[in-house]
Amino acid sequence: MATAGDLPDRRIHATHVLIGGCEPRDGTELVSPGPPAAAVRRNGKSAGMDAGNAANDASLGKEIVGRINELAAISEEGDKLTRVYLSKELREAGDVILGWMRGAGMSARLDAVGNLCGRYEAERPGAPCLLLGSHYDTVRDAGKWDGPLGVITAIACVADLNRRGKRLPFAIEVIGFADEEGVRFASTLLGSRAVAGTFDGSLLDARDRDGLTMREAMVQFGLDPGHIGDAARPRRELLHAYVELHIEQGPVLEQQDLPVGVVTAIAGATRLAASLTGMAGHAGTVPMAMRRDALAGAAECIMAVEQFCKADSAGLVGTVGAITALPGATNVIPGKVSFSLDIRAPTDAHRKLAVADLISRIEAIAKRRELSLQIDVTHENRTVPCAPWLKTQVAEAVAAEAYGVFELPSGAGHDGMAMIDIADVAMLFVRCRAGISHNPAEHVEPADVDAGARVLLRLIENFRPRDAGRAGKA
Ligand code: GLV
Ligand code: MN
Ligand code: MN
Repeated sequence: MATAGDLPDRRIHATHVLIGGCEPRDGTELVSPGPPAAAVRRNGKSAGMDAGNAANDASLGKEIVGRINELAAISEEGDKLTRVYLSKELREAGDVILGWMRGAGMSARLDAVGNLCGRYEAERPGAPCLLLGSHYDTVRDAGKWDGPLGVITAIACVADLNRRGKRLPFAIEVIGFADEEGVRFASTLLGSRAVAGTFDGSLLDARDRDGLTMREAMVQFGLDPGHIGDAARPRRELLHAYVELHIEQGPVLEQQDLPVGVVTAIAGATRLAASLTGMAGHAGTVPMAMRRDALAGAAECIMAVEQFCKADSAGLVGTVGAITALPGATNVIPGKVSFSLDIRAPTDAHRKLAVADLISRIEAIAKRRELSLQIDVTHENRTVPCAPWLKTQVAEAVAAEAYGVFELPSGAGHDGMAMIDIADVAMLFVRCRAGISHNPAEHVEPADVDAGARVLLRLIENFRPRDAGRAGKA
């Protein structure tokens, strides 16, 4: 798989406008992404063509943007958007979203791990569901679109069906995952892993930066850690399909002048926690040659990570995003430093080799500086390909809404990485300004929000379950 900046798989599907139906072409053509200008909407603004299936689609995007702003106001920090797992603000945001789900005609509940689960019944109650969703936690000092856009858009699509009194042969469930980012307990995908039945119970003993365990935080949130298993969903209740709409978090769609894109795969990631221990001492008296400065050692490790990844021409990326130095005083030589390391690459083999190489470089630095080193893998996720049968339907929905169909990989992680254990996965990306994400400057144009919502709605209404597709081909 290529990184977002390197797209060997530049495909564009033939695109045509559909009025009242959907029968796009199946095949893909290796051509530059330039479908016939007259037929294709490029910038997400109405081209005066088929308005789609929605009852009132002009308002879809508007309502979504209003809700994005409403949710962004629920934060742990007054001047920044931060909403981490099991915080009081996550609970507050969850209650707001559950209200939106109910308002959209869904039954809605908080599950055993803090996920929000809304269900819009099928024509026949109790039928298996198409699962949609994203996460409602954020990084620290976050943008407001990463995660909530997928949850809110899915709810808006259901609300639109509900307004029209339309039921489908399958149920639709929308999940707001409680922890995708892994900010608080240094372990990601907690919400979706619980749904997939792969939640690692030993994580309950993980501590946040204030020393509170996940177990304690769950109780404070109002959950019973003994019942996490109840969040797991059996495959038979799902139609083999989890579809997530998310902002791209990269610049490719903007470069392509397209509001939406079809994801090919989600890149794997490895996260490590490293700590170096040296000797704290007096900043004025210990000669430079006699120091065992843990922070200077960490600085060398960080530079080694950057140089190693920069020298890689095949898309390796490495980030040290968090660091603490103790005791943390101007006039004390740092005795202990802990830092995180996030490594991603286009293929799992490439990433694993890089991680092994980086660990040995860090070990060598620690040894030369006489620092003791503890380094642990805190998170490892394999690359998840999007299922061809489902990806095709996303592409068809994009084409049906008269946008150019463009495929791209995701360098960022998503809940699909956990959901793959119980369902096939597909993703629809929505363009974000300058590719900026994990940053308060994250921005999506309302017209692109509307474009994403129209495509998702089209996908839902035209969705064909995997087995139905097989039966049709047989
Ligand atoms: C999730 O946002 C990630 O780190 O990729
Ligand atoms: Mn994120
Ligand atoms: Mn996200």
